[in-house]
Amino acid sequence: MNRTTLADFPVLAETLRKLHLVESAPFRGVDVLAVQHVHLSLVPLADALVAGGADPERMTIVSKSYSSRPAAVHALRERGIRVVDEPRMQDPRHSYERELARTVAGVVEDLVDGPGTTDPLLLIDEGSVATRAAATRPVALARARVVEQTTRGARWVEAAGLGIPVVDVARSDAKAELEAPLVARSMVVGLAAVLDGLGRRPRRAGLIGYGRMGNHLARLLAADVEVTVHDIGRGQSDLARRAGHRVADLAGVLRDCDLLVGSTGSGILREPDLVRLGYPTVLVNGASSDLEYELWPLRVPAAMIPGGDGDPRRPWANHYRVGAGEHVLVAGGFPVNFHGGGEPISALDFQLTRALMLAGAAQVMTRPPAGLEMLDPAVQDLVGAAYLGRAVREPAR
Ligand SMILES: NC(=O)c1ccc[n+]([C@@H]2O[C@H](COP(=O)([O-])OP(=O)(O)OC[C@H]3O[C@@H](n4cnc5c(N)ncnc54)[C@H](O)[C@@H]3O)[C@@H](O)[C@H]2O)c1
Repeated sequence: MNRTTLADFPVLAETLRKLHLVESAPFRGVDVLAVQHVHLSLVPLADALVAGGADPERMTIVSKSYSSRPAAVHALRERGIRVVDEPRMQDPRHSYERELARTVAGVVEDLVDGPGTTDPLLLIDEGSVATRAAATRPVALARARVVEQTTRGARWVEAAGLGIPVVDVARSDAKAELEAPLVARSMVVGLAAVLDGLGRRPRRAGLIGYGRMGNHLARLLAADVEVTVHDIGRGQSDLARRAGHRVADLAGVLRDCDLLVGSTGSGILREPDLVRLGYPTVLVNGASSDLEYELWPLRVPAAMIPGGDGDPRRPWANHYRVGAGEHVLVAGGFPVNFHGGGEPISALDFQLTRALMLAGAAQVMTRPPAGLEMLDPAVQDLVGAAYLGRAVREPAR
């Protein structure tokens, strides 16, 4: 992998070129902190940031442990970038988010400790983890410029009203239209492999969360099983109905389904809710981190199903029996598309998201907004077109 170059990733290369990032060097003199899935597609994004002026020695990447891939960690470290990669949890009986927040807070401390610098601190964020950490340190917040990749993170930033420059890539049309189908497909592929391994053949799926990704998930799942959708948004429920899906309240879904897929970005099920499940049910996270199922105290060695890696501190690599033992919490409640080895989406495809984040990072550095703003639609078109292999005109400089 270390031998690949930006030229192997035409969407990133074209974004770099069309936005004139080598000439304008928007990342020169900047500290960079990225909280990201460390997959092979992150390597050319790092290369693009360096081509745009970033100093590898001033870049820190904190990996999401559940999705981290050693080859990518290695390739980034070879480039002189600091990668904080915690391969195991300290205590799986609590949410992973707690540990990640602690790790990132430590990195922010390191970055703002010592002789004061006023250089910008570019946060390439997922789930607002780095932004939350910076928000507790005024000296970090004053320097922060943020590009956010997830809807959950963008919503948090919006509600927090920090008044710092933030570019929202998460809710861009380009991401919803081009990335969501890719991710949904990777979820369904991951799910099929897990069900085979477990020897389970569910017949009725309950999909919770019919958003940007959930609508694709519902359509793909419906090819194999009966699907019932539940979403707290009335508009989303109407959309699901119009797409031909059955719609129910949460109680109805829990009662009638034997496969539950959460795609909300928030908590949908707690331990006391397990008695509401009408059938032995396979519980699947179709979103991010381990937030959909607040069943963390049940991630204990005695509940592990043989066949995983057996390491109690790597809950994402194991499935757990929960309830009276008849339900299965897949991949410890982490996203099913990251379970197992390999990468859920090829680096060539996922460069789309990396290129949108590169463009967002350039936007927040070159013309920092007063608060939260969307990724420039003309730039979305440019990246989307590069991804789809079409030529477009460069946006006005
Ligand atoms: N694993 C991956 O590779 C990957 C990639 C992209 C996005 N994601 C994650 O997928 C999740 C969904 O993303 P999205 O872009 O579709 O978000 P979205 O905001 O478009 O959709 C979420 C939907 O869930 C609904 N919802 C929220 N809380 C609910 C609840 N308690 N009960 C029922 N419905 C509820 C909302 O009304 C909304 O319609 C996010 O967590 C995102 O970070 C994961």
